[in-house]
Amino acid sequence: MAANRYFRRESTGMKHETKITREQMVELLNEDLAREYQAIIAYTVYSQTIKGAAFTDIAGELAIHAGEELAHALLIAKQIDYFNGKPTTIPKEVKTSDKAEDMLRFDLENEKQTIINYRARIRQAEELGEFALSEVLRTIIAQEQEHLTDLADALGIDNPNFSE
Ligand SMILES: [Fe+2]
Ligand SMILES: [Fe+2]
Repeated sequence: MAANRYFRRESTGMKHETKITREQMVELLNEDLAREYQAIIAYTVYSQTIKGAAFTDIAGELAIHAGEELAHALLIAKQIDYFNGKPTTIPKEVKTSDKAEDMLRFDLENEKQTIINYRARIRQAEELGEFALSEVLRTIIAQEQEHLTDLADALGIDNPNFSE
């Protein structure tokens, strides 16, 4: 356990040393945007199709998430434009299932990956001296963490513990 933690810290330290270019930042932000589109679609569909009395409350939450993901997409697209890039129009693939629990698990996994990505993006933005971008990403990541908590609560599990 302790060894694991040590290695994680090491790899984070190594990432710190790789400064990316502005072109690479545009590419990475476009991946983030494609993930935001994916989240908008997933939350829109899941919130309206999730079945079962036990999931009534979370259905309402998912509909709220959909709106927040749209706000994130707008913020990311604006940042891409600021870097003179072209915002993508293509979402990452959205998984489907008829089972409520599957939908929540897909969302949970996506939120987890999104948080990991934004953590890296914040570090990269700071290395470029792009503090306004880092500020925007920090606002977004705080909401993604709330999404993750909502999903974990609905699934009756602990918040996933991950560091990267
Ligand atoms: Fe988002
Ligand atoms: Fe989210």
